[in-house]
Amino acid sequence: MVGLRACALFVAAFLLGGPADAAEQPSAAQMMDDLMYGRGSVGGPFTLTDHTGKPRRDTEFRGKLIVVYFGYTYCPDVCPTDLMAITQALDALGPSAEEVQPIFITIDPERDTKVLAAYVAAFHHSFLGLTGSPDEIRKVANSYKTFYAKVPDERGGEYSIDHSGVIYLMGRNGEYLGFMPPQTNPDRLTEVLRKYLTR
Ligand code: NI
Repeated sequence: MVGLRACALFVAAFLLGGPADAAEQPSAAQMMDDLMYGRGSVGGPFTLTDHTGKPRRDTEFRGKLIVVYFGYTYCPDVCPTDLMAITQALDALGPSAEEVQPIFITIDPERDTKVLAAYVAAFHHSFLGLTGSPDEIRKVANSYKTFYAKVPDERGGEYSIDHSGVIYLMGRNGEYLGFMPPQTNPDRLTEVLRKYLTR
């Protein structure tokens, strides 16, 4: 249910022109519009920390296709569904999945960093979880035109996060290939990935 509400809020932010903290990021509408119409660049250099505590740079993954997903471990439905779809797509590819590096970047480093290893272990074995300081994450998300904003939960001190949740596909030289919408069917993901595989 929180997922549905987050979606509704995303639509609201889209229509109203952005969240209160728009100073820290372009508005949701601006980023979604740029992404949909292919304006500007998507992706770019980053140095983040993986779920084992090791620093990782974007350049390490050259030669592989990269599937990038921004989400948070407390997400009740949308993130786990999409991460499971990516997992199923990789399973369907069999040994060719070795050409693909799936990356989960948390947009909730404050809560997620300590649980990241356990979280990614629930999905495909090749999943890499990445975290960083809130500022580092914001910069990487901005470079991917990913929108996110905390939504206070009235029932307690916790919060959920309204986020765009698209699935990015990056090429072997780190170039942007495209994005797939949230809730993309695993079979469709498999088909899209297969087009870029060498075997
Ligand atoms: Ni989510």
